[in-house]
Formats: sequence, structure tokens, C-alpha cells
Amino acid sequence: MHVPLGDLILTGLEAGAFLGLPANRRVFELVRHAILGHQLQGGAKLPSTRDLAIELGLSRNTVLAAYEQLLAEGYIEARSGSGSYVADTLPRALAPVRPKPARQAGGAAPRELSRRGRMLTATPSDKCYEIQEFVAGANDFSAFPHKLWQRLQNKHWRSPEPAFLDYARAGGYQPLRESLTEYLRVSRSVRLNPDQVLITAGTQQSLDLCARLLTDGGDMVWMENPGYWGARRIFEANDLNLRPVAVDAEGIAPSAADLQTAPRMIYVTPSHQYPTDVVMGLSRRRLLIEFAGRKGAWILEDDYDSEFRYGGRPLASLQGLDSHARVIYLGTFSKVLYPGIRIGYVVVPPDLIESFRTGLSDIHRPGQMAVQAALSDFIRLGHFSSHIRNVRARYGKCRALLQQCLQKKLLPQARLSNADTGLHLVIHLPEHCDDVLLVAQAKRRQLDVKPLSSYYVAPPLTRGVVVGYGYTPQEQIMPSALRLADLVNRHIRATG
Ligand SMILES: Cc1ncc(COP(=O)(O)O)c(C=O)c1O
Repeated sequence: MHVPLGDLILTGLEAGAFLGLPANRRVFELVRHAILGHQLQGGAKLPSTRDLAIELGLSRNTVLAAYEQLLAEGYIEARSGSGSYVADTLPRALAPVRPKPARQAGGAAPRELSRRGRMLTATPSDKCYEIQEFVAGANDFSAFPHKLWQRLQNKHWRSPEPAFLDYARAGGYQPLRESLTEYLRVSRSVRLNPDQVLITAGTQQSLDLCARLLTDGGDMVWMENPGYWGARRIFEANDLNLRPVAVDAEGIAPSAADLQTAPRMIYVTPSHQYPTDVVMGLSRRRLLIEFAGRKGAWILEDDYDSEFRYGGRPLASLQGLDSHARVIYLGTFSKVLYPGIRIGYVVVPPDLIESFRTGLSDIHRPGQMAVQAALSDFIRLGHFSSHIRNVRARYGKCRALLQQCLQKKLLPQARLSNADTGLHLVIHLPEHCDDVLLVAQAKRRQLDVKPLSSYYVAPPLTRGVVVGYGYTPQEQIMPSALRLADLVNRHIRATG
């Protein structure tokens, strides 16, 4: 028996289904959907291509092409001398089930996510916590020498070595690992040789690699509190037991109770605590290293923006002080070059090299060898150093302008952080302030700042406003700072 396929297709065509595709493709899709939706049952006979073409007012070739594609993909079968039939492809053991419409817009959780998947996607973090520009939507990456960068990339693409098109092996492009080794030794006092460096797709991937290779679900990890949301996400995704550890003016400040625990990992940002803008003091550094050595814990040192120290040379790394080989050093090009480059690195102790290489390769399948090669040239030829000097001067001016303006205008109850480093600072607020409300008000005035309270793992202990200035056009710093100071002062008065 012929099915009323013509009607079905005509209805679909008139309703504009698959508009934009060629006619044969539209017919193919409509028949395919009718089969998958059980409007056409297995074994049903299809009209001849000639009859269907007349019914639809299309050329026979159009219908023929649609049938040929349906045949090639197994939706229909041709029986010699008798025409085309819907193939019977339904698994025997299953009754036809109409797919339920997926729950989507309106906030309901998508079907089929795991518990972890639901937890991770319930509150997307980066929109709330990523500290970048001060003025909403005004990200300024013009300091990056893109013409030079293009030239360096072109050089490698003109006649790429076969290895550039392959996966990255042995921890990444050897000359880049060598250039980085030199740079880290000289400017960050990291103790390493090139074999200890692994090139990753940024700190987020480095953290994930460390969590997967060094911990098991349920292991304890110390997190600075407040701390970096990106690290927290990775630890949550790896089912780790987060222990928030307080931060004071010297960085992470473990209490006596904290020191009784045995964390497997300790995540810290010693050069510039994220987000409070303090630098870890030497005695705190030594305490941490001693503690990790005694407990057999790994310290993850996230050195994400140490290149930006405006008052002097960058501070030496924690890794360089470590005589127990417990520190894993994480670096990134996201801040010093641009975030979309997705290149970072991990420096691991010698006994972990082979495991980390295997883990990186098996879990993440790294690549981007041509970009790594261009970056290696960028460093080797001295462009990296001059770029750092250039952006340091530029961001330093932005910071100074911002500080001057805020210091002058803010009420004395608002205290400004003063680390003289990095790409953000903090306006600390009295306890009675509601920093979430204040930030929402700022957003309405095109100021993109973040509430300090939202970076706490446990209930917030202090209130403040985190202000990123690195990618903000310099001429916008003063007017924006004036508007922010005005808003903060009014909030303090209104709530005090
Ligand atoms: C504390 C911290 N670590 C690391 C990074 C960089 O991460 P990635 O290299 O994945 O871009 C950032 C970027 O904002 C950061 O704030």
C-alpha cells in the first residue's frame, strides 16, 4: 500500500522545513524524519520517483537524488522490479518509542547529565568571576604585536615540518621548552631543566592534569579562601574534598586546625593572591613548603600574572625555594599575551616527568605545534621580553591612575589593596556593605567589577569590589574610576 508521503512532504515544504537546503536535501530530510518519527513504518512502500515528483511539482531528478541518498544511508531499500520500501531497521527487542521532547529553556536541567555534570553546569562560573576589563565590553588587546606574531606564524606555515601537523609529543615543542626553561630560571628563579616542562592548553588544563594524576576522588585539597574559581571548578570536577583555608595579608594562612589535616594537594597563588591582591610573605612560603614536605602533599603554585610587578623585579617563585620537590609550578600565556592563545605550562619534579607526559598525551592529546614554534621564536628572538616591558609599562600606568583616583575619592572606610602587582586590585568594604548589590548597580553603569564575597568557598568573611584594569583603554580609567568611587561612597553611606 502506498503511504500518503506526498501530503506529508508538501506539508513540510509549505511549513518551511529545512529551508535554505537544496530541494533534494529537503525532500530527503522530510522522508528521513518521517521514518525516524515512525510516521512511515518499516516495510511501507514508497511512491515511484515519477509519481512523487509530479505530486510535489518538482523535477524527477530532485526526487531521484533524495531517494538515492535515503538508499545509501539505509533508510529505504530497493526491491528489484517492485519499487522502494522503508527499511525495517528498528531493533527487534524495542517497541517503537516516540522520543520525548528534551527539557530545555526555562531553567530545567537537561536530561542525561551525570550528577557531576549537573553540579558543574548549574552555575556557569566565568561570567560571574572572570576578572578582565573594567569597562564592560571594552577589552583592549591592542598591545599585542599581532603583525609580528603573524609573521612568525607564517614562517612556520610556509613549509611546515611534518611534526607541526602532528600531535605534540614528549611534553611539547622542544625549543619552546628550552626557551621557557631559560626564561623561568632567570626571571622566576624556578629550578628546572627542559625535560621538566610540559606545554599544555593553559592553566585550566594543567590543573586538571595534576588533579587526575595526583589525586583520587575524595582526597583533600586546600583552596585559598577566597580563591580562584577556575581551580575550584577543576577540583569539584575531580570529586575532591575542598578545604577552604583563610587568606590574610601574607597570603594563605592555615590555622592550627588546618595544620592537623593531611591534604593531598594545596593550591596557591603566591606571587599575587587571587583575588585579594596580596603577595605571600617569605615565612608563609617556608611554612607551606615544610608542611607539604612533612605531609607528602603537592603544592600547585599558580603563577598566572607575576610578570606584572610594577615596583621592582618579579618575586622569586615558591618552586625555587622548595628543597623537597613537592611544588608543581603552573604558568600561562593568557595574561602576558592573550587568553585565547590557550598555551600554558607545568613544571613537574623530575620523578613525575614520564607520568605527566603519558597523562597529558593520553588524556588531552595536545597539538598546536606550529603555534608553539612561533611562540618559541617570539621568546628566543627577544620579542617576549620587550612585549613584557611594554605591557608592564602600559598596565602599570593604568594601575597608578586607578589607584590615585580611587585613593583620592573613596571614603576612608573603603580600603584599597596595595600589592603593586598583577592586573586587578581590590576595594575592601566595611562589613555592612552588600558587594553583590553594589556590583549589580555598577553593571548598570557599564562598570564590570566583581564582588569579593563571591570568591569565597565557605560563607564570605569580607566584602569588597575586585577591579580588573589590564585590558581597559587607558583613557577610560579615570572617568570609570570616578563613577565607581562615587557609587561605592554612596553605598557605604546608605548602608552604614
Ligand atoms: C588565578 C588564575 N590562574 C590562571 C589563570 C589562567 O588560566 P588559563 O591559562 O587557563 O587561561 C587565570 C586567568 O584568569 C587566573 O586568574
